[in-house]
Amino acid sequence: MKIDSTISAVVTGGASGLGLASVKALRAAGAKVAIFDFNPETGVKAAEETGSLFCEANVLSDESLDAAFAKARSVNGQERILISCAGGGNAMTTIRKDKQTGEFKVFPSEEFARVLTLNAVGTFATLTRFAAGAATLEPVDGERGAAVCTGSIAAQDGQIGQAAYAAGKAAIVGMTLPIARDLGRWGIRVNTILPGVFSTPLMNQAPQATIDALAAQVAFPNRLGDPTEYASMALELCRNTYMNAHVLRLDGGVRFSAR
Ligand SMILES: NC(=O)c1ccc[n+]([C@@H]2O[C@H](COP(=O)([O-])OP(=O)(O)OC[C@H]3O[C@@H](n4cnc5c(N)ncnc54)[C@H](O)[C@@H]3O)[C@@H](O)[C@H]2O)c1
Repeated sequence: MKIDSTISAVVTGGASGLGLASVKALRAAGAKVAIFDFNPETGVKAAEETGSLFCEANVLSDESLDAAFAKARSVNGQERILISCAGGGNAMTTIRKDKQTGEFKVFPSEEFARVLTLNAVGTFATLTRFAAGAATLEPVDGERGAAVCTGSIAAQDGQIGQAAYAAGKAAIVGMTLPIARDLGRWGIRVNTILPGVFSTPLMNQAPQATIDALAAQVAFPNRLGDPTEYASMALELCRNTYMNAHVLRLDGGVRFSAR
């Protein structure tokens, strides 16, 4: 797909980090962009900075997503590109021993479900709506749309404390092929990027020693990924028509150890 001013795009989690870098790359290519994010403060600021449209959206709410898609389409027209970055995790071990009582505590099921839902259901609910809209378009160069989902290398090498996050991201890995098969007849492609460790606001809160230790584990280059490197890959996955149902690590060759 040629990305230019005739293309409209939606980026979830577009107010920050990997999503914001994708918004900037799409704007630089001339596309009209709608930022879907549940943080109106950063969302409005990002939209102003990039000349995009802010649509407040919580990917956990179907109603909120429907309203955001309606707003985006009324201003920018039906989107052909979706880059789905909204997601996140928590850090909690499967069981832990209470230091004071010696009692074993379990990972609360509702916390597990929250992270699983945010990543798996949030991504899927966004994709379904994107696909239903893109399927109505006339094909250009034989295709109607392209979506990029964001997993994590934790889907393959989840660390201590990442059971829920790894499960949520593994769900995105698992759904990529069947969704691509479902949508193939409509000329819509879907690919998933598994980022390694990227220098986003989320990661930049970590102590420098932690960041240095993470960077040292990367085969090459020995640093965190730059969000522009994620954005570059996301746009190439949209541009390259033969790229479909693919799950690719973008991680400088890092393999997570247990902690
Ligand atoms: N940064 C990394 O190193 C890294 C590594 C692997 C995977 N990831 C994944 O990449 C994605 C983006 O991460 P990031 O580092 O850019 O994070 P970030 O915190 O900088 O940005 C995430 C954005 O998503 C928004 N968001 C969160 N929950 C939402 C919801 N329910 N509805 C709508 N918007 C919501 C936030 O407001 C925020 O603007 C996430 O899915 C994350 O799990 C990041």
